[in-house]
Amino acid sequence: MENLDWKNLPFGYQKTDYNVRCYYRNGSWGELEVSSSEYINIHMAATALHYGQEAFEGLKAYRGVDGKVRLFRWEENYERLKNSAQGVMMAEVTKEVFYNAVVKSVMLNERFIPPHGTGASLYIRPFLFGSGAEVGVAPAKEYMFVVFVTPVGPYFKEGFKPVRIAIERDTDRAAPLGTGNIKVGGNYAASLKAIVRVHKEGFGSPLYLDAVEKRYIDEIGAANFFGIKDNTYITPKSTSILPSITNKSIIELAEHIGLKVERRPIDVAELPTFEEAGACGTAAVISPIGEIYDSATDKSIFFTKDGNPGPISTKIYETLVGIQYGEVEDPFNWTEVIG
Ligand code: PLP
Ligand code: COI
Repeated sequence: MENLDWKNLPFGYQKTDYNVRCYYRNGSWGELEVSSSEYINIHMAATALHYGQEAFEGLKAYRGVDGKVRLFRWEENYERLKNSAQGVMMAEVTKEVFYNAVVKSVMLNERFIPPHGTGASLYIRPFLFGSGAEVGVAPAKEYMFVVFVTPVGPYFKEGFKPVRIAIERDTDRAAPLGTGNIKVGGNYAASLKAIVRVHKEGFGSPLYLDAVEKRYIDEIGAANFFGIKDNTYITPKSTSILPSITNKSIIELAEHIGLKVERRPIDVAELPTFEEAGACGTAAVISPIGEIYDSATDKSIFFTKDGNPGPISTKIYETLVGIQYGEVEDPFNWTEVIG
């Protein structure tokens, strides 16, 4: 096992031993190739570099309490990558290529899977991009699919402690009929200005609103939003947010533990009425929100009751993470043991 400070890992890039690559040429995918180089050599006119033909995924491998290695709902990530590929006219990776590349990249880097009990996990980053040259705006004829892994700690440095969020009023991340609902690099480029600004101001992340009315909640940087009140889990319905696999799972968990679930537009004006609020995603896991600041009024319009995570967020967090680490029963069959 690698000798790392597992308990204090940031959410960042850490070199591992191998990555896995696959090339799409002449209409089909080739064999998986294992590489120990962190670099890729591509054509300078590759469509990924000019016209943003790129999509990525994020999932994790967990070292369980029983020592086994588990993936969480990888088929959902596969389906989403397929949608992203269709959304920006890229060749779709096959399920077999996706699964084999993910498993190979994890197991070849097994010594980097954080030990159980450290709160860390192995982040898996599959990505697909147009590697073929075009100068006119057109889809590439060649694609590359790569999977690398890196051990990570919590995305928000607070971990499972309330994070401060700022409502974003100056930029839009995604348009209603744009690419916000798929996981393409351009969405993240559009989010950088706000992220850098709010970090400087001491917030964990911006909260994006719908681009038309600037009234309804879209999502939080790289995570979906949820609010809880009256025994109900409420999460935004919008065409410009990423369908989060974590959120989908929490919805099922919430119903399982007897909460009502509503997926509907959430007006910013409703924020003060929530008993609990949070951000959820693979990287963010479940991050309780401690405060939501609005520059429109220069006031914070949501606060946690006593500065601590709420009881329902805590229960959902413990159950979700417990399933991922093989500590509690997985009645939904979400995890797959791969080693
Ligand atoms: N929203 C955005 C913009 C994201 O980048 C992510 C991360 O993938 C999420 C939400 C959460 O999605 P998931 O739970 O599938 O990781
Ligand atoms: C993820 O949760 O996988 C993300 O997308 C976060 C990432 C953009 C840092």
